[in-house]
Amino acid sequence: RSTQFTKPTIDHVNHLRSILSSPASLLTTLDGSSTSGELDAFNSDWMGKYHGSSPLVLKPRSTSEVSEIMRYCNSRNLALVPQGGNTGLVGGSNPVYDEVILSLSNLNSVRSFDKVSGILVADAGVVLESADNYLAERGFIFPLDLGAKGSCQIGGNVAANAGGLRLLRYGSLRGSVLGLEVVLPDGTIWNGLSKLRKDNTGLDLKQLFIGSEGTLGIITAISILCPRRPLATNVAVFSLPSYEAVQAVYAEARSRLGEILSAFEFFDSGSYGFVKQHQAHNGGSKKVFETEGEFYCLIETGGSNAEHDEGKMTALLEHLMGNEMVLDGVLAQDETQIKELWSLREGITESIGKLGKVYKYDLSVPVEKMYGLVEIMRERLRERGLYKEDGSGIVIGVIGYGHMGDGNLHLNVVSKEWSDDVQQAIEPYVYELVAENSGSISAEHGLGIMKAPYISYSKSTESVEMMKRIKQMFDPKGLLNPYKYIV
Ligand code: FAD
Ligand code: MLT
Ligand code: ZN
Repeated sequence: RSTQFTKPTIDHVNHLRSILSSPASLLTTLDGSSTSGELDAFNSDWMGKYHGSSPLVLKPRSTSEVSEIMRYCNSRNLALVPQGGNTGLVGGSNPVYDEVILSLSNLNSVRSFDKVSGILVADAGVVLESADNYLAERGFIFPLDLGAKGSCQIGGNVAANAGGLRLLRYGSLRGSVLGLEVVLPDGTIWNGLSKLRKDNTGLDLKQLFIGSEGTLGIITAISILCPRRPLATNVAVFSLPSYEAVQAVYAEARSRLGEILSAFEFFDSGSYGFVKQHQAHNGGSKKVFETEGEFYCLIETGGSNAEHDEGKMTALLEHLMGNEMVLDGVLAQDETQIKELWSLREGITESIGKLGKVYKYDLSVPVEKMYGLVEIMRERLRERGLYKEDGSGIVIGVIGYGHMGDGNLHLNVVSKEWSDDVQQAIEPYVYELVAENSGSISAEHGLGIMKAPYISYSKSTESVEMMKRIKQMFDPKGLLNPYKYIV
C-alpha cells in the first residue's frame, strides 16, 4: 500500500455524507452502518480472483456530486477506484487495498436521443442492455454487444474500450463515441459531450479517456452514434474438423455474405464441452449437431431484407456443406433458436467461471497464428504434469475461442484451484509468445492490475513514457485507480 495515500476515516465519511443527496449513496464499515458482507460485491471482481478491502463505497446521483467527491478526495489524498458494472476481467474495477470505491450505478438516465441522427446521450451508469432495449424500441441498436450486457455499464464499456461480438460490423467504440463528460481528479467537470461526427479543431481529447480504465478521470456521460437496428437477423453455427477449416469458412463467409456479415465467432471443442457441461448442470442441454467437431464457428448476418439475407445465408450453408468444408451446420429458424445458438458462444465465459478457476488471456495475433498459441500452451502445461487429458491434473482445460474477424483470441486455462505453479507456467511465457508474433497482450479487456507489469511486451519504452506523462498531467498525485494500468 502506498504511504502517499491517506487511510479513509470516520471524518472523511462524515464530510462525504454531507456531499451526497441521499443517505443510501454511501456504504461504510467505518461507523458500523454497513457490514463487510455488504461491501464484498464491490471489493471483489467478477471472477473471484481479485479482492480489495475498501471500507467505503460512494454511489453519487449527479455529475456535480462526483465533482465534489473528487475535489474532496484530491484535497485529502484519498485514492479512488471507479466502478461500473464490475464485470471487467483484469482486476481493474476493484480496490487493491483500501481505496474508496466510486460506483457509477446511480447515474443511470438517458439524457437525449435524436432519432434522425441516431445520437444517444446517456449517463455512464446506464446498463448496456437497458441502453440497447431503449434503442430497440426506437429502431436503433447500441454499436456494442457482449456477454456481460445485463450488468456492464456504458461508461465502463467506454473506460475499458470493450470490443465484443459485433466489432466486425460496427467498429471500435473509438469510432462510435462522439463525446464524453468527464470529471477530472481535481473535480473539474469537462463537458466534451459533442454530437459532431466531424471535428478537426485541435486534439481529440475524448480518445484519451476511451480505454483509460479509470486512471485519468471519471466518465459521467457519453454521446454515441447508434446505427439503425437490422430488420432481419440470421444465425448459423457450424462444426468443423480443424482450425484451417475455420479460416477457410471465414474467407467464404466474408466473400459470400459481404456487407450483411455482422459477427464471425469461433470456439474449440473444449469450450463447447464446458458450455454443454454447464447447461447439463442446469438441466438445459439440448443436442445441437449430428456430428460434433474439433472446432465451431458462429456466423450472424444483419440486414434490411429478410428474403435477400436468408437467400445468401442458405447459399453459404449449401456451399459449405456441399464442398465438405464443414462437418455439420444449424441455421436458426426463429428468435428462440437464435438465442440458443448464441448461448453456445456467449455462455463460455460464465460456464468456465462456474466450473473452475480461470486464467484468462485476451490476445491479438495474426489470424493464422491464433490457435497455435492454445496448442503450445496446452503442450507446455501437459509437459509439466499440470494438465492431463483424463482430468486428473490440476488444469482441466486449455481452451481457445474468440472474435475471429478481429484477430482476437481468448486463451483460457481452466484450473481446479488458483495455483502459483499454473500461473508461473503460463506467465510471462504467454506474453513472450505474443511479443514474438508482434501481437497485443490485451486486445479488448485492458490492462487492469493483471497486465500492468507486462505492458512492455506490447508497447515501446517511448510509448509507455508518453502514457506516464499524460497520467502525471491529469492526476499528479496518482489518486485515481492506483497500482493498475501503467505502474
Ligand atoms: P467495470 O468492470 O466496472 O470497470 C472496468 C474498468 O473501467 C475499470 O478499470 C474501472 O475502474 C473503469 N471504469 C468503470 N466505469 C468507469 C467510469 N464511468 N469512468 C471511468 N472509469 C470507469 N469485454 C470485451 O471487450 N468484449 C467482450 O466480449 C466481453 N465479454 C464479456 C463477457 C462476460 C461474461 C464478462 C463477465 C465480461 C466481458 N468483457 C468483455 C469484459 C468487460 O470489459 C466488459 O464486461 C465491460 O466493458 C466492463 O464494463 P463494466 O461497466 O462492468 O466496467
Ligand atoms: C468473450 O469474448 O466472450 C469475452 O471477451 C469474455 C471472455 O474472454 O471470456
Ligand atoms: Zn471477447
